[in-house]
Amino acid sequence: MIVLGIESSCDETGVALVRTEGDAVPTLLAQALHSQVEMHVAYGGVVPELASRDHIRRVLPLSIAVLAEAGVALPEIDVVAYTRGPGLAGALLVGAGVACALAMALDRPVLGVHHLEGHLLSPFLSRDPPAFPFVALLVSGGHTQLMRVDDVGRYALLGETIDDAAGEAFDKSAKLLGLGYPGGPALARLADAGNPAAFALPRPLLHSANLDFSFAGLKTAVMTQWRKCGESPGERARADLAASTQQTIVDVLVRKSVAALEATGLDRLVVAGGVGANARLRAQLNERCARRGARVHYPEFELCTDNGAMIALAAAMRLQRGIAETRTDYAFDVRPRWPLTEVGGPPPLRTTAP
Ligand code: KG4
Ligand code: ZN
Repeated sequence: MIVLGIESSCDETGVALVRTEGDAVPTLLAQALHSQVEMHVAYGGVVPELASRDHIRRVLPLSIAVLAEAGVALPEIDVVAYTRGPGLAGALLVGAGVACALAMALDRPVLGVHHLEGHLLSPFLSRDPPAFPFVALLVSGGHTQLMRVDDVGRYALLGETIDDAAGEAFDKSAKLLGLGYPGGPALARLADAGNPAAFALPRPLLHSANLDFSFAGLKTAVMTQWRKCGESPGERARADLAASTQQTIVDVLVRKSVAALEATGLDRLVVAGGVGANARLRAQLNERCARRGARVHYPEFELCTDNGAMIALAAAMRLQRGIAETRTDYAFDVRPRWPLTEVGGPPPLRTTAP
């Protein structure tokens, strides 16, 4: 079976084709991506209306390129999948509209996919795929969650942020330090030159009994420290504050992930979402998990941020298990707000919470 996947939830247009062969992990045939970062850079963040219009411009050329690269003809597509949510409503509607039109023309079903399920399953396309069950740390621009994953669709929420997401903490701190958008990677680069112990920043909920996170106080603390540095703080102080900010976020993510492994008794951790590209987070998670005999799995680097491959993959894995709610009425719908626990599928095997 061949599945076409379209991602358009935020500022990346992604299209990909995957093939399934029985129960085996689906294989990626081709993928194409267009990032809108350059377009939004002047505004210091994503402008939703511009994002929607750009998805319209990109999605068909990307689809044509992917089909050509894979050597797949349109009629060979069995299912058309798109990101149904969560994300920007207008941006999601572009992918949904194109997917439904294409599926209708081909007389094939469409399938709306949960964006975070895509992130969560993306390590299955890596050279070192995980096995179920595992703990997933989802860290993106809009979400910070720890889940127990027993299988595709079997998700139990273990903990989540009560305010800002980890990516948001990176982005907002980066903005305060004058690093612009997108802040996460820029802050990480600057942090390489700084001392992570230079500034003491708050780590709320670090020692709480649950697996929840709180990052909203961090940006205020970064702002306070930055002001204390005076009129012209210099590059050294900026790099030190970037390094200390990164270390604070990493410390909390690592500690809570290890606590989630302890609470569930599992020995596999999957890290997904844009922040999962952070090198320091990876290094420290690997080290801490190795110490307790646990393995950490990541998506390939290029699949850490938004892409079409993870959407096609999630659709294919649902289809393989017979839990895909495909539609043939082509009444495309999107869910800008959509908790992963409402995604549909069999119930979690256990809802282990500490
Ligand atoms: O998953 P993603 O591409 O989009 C969402 O669905 O949100 O995640 C984007 C987030 C942004 O907040 C970005 O700053 C962050 O991931 N990010 C990073 C790095 N690369 C991307 N944060 C820290 N270090 C990085 N290397
Ligand atoms: Zn994402």
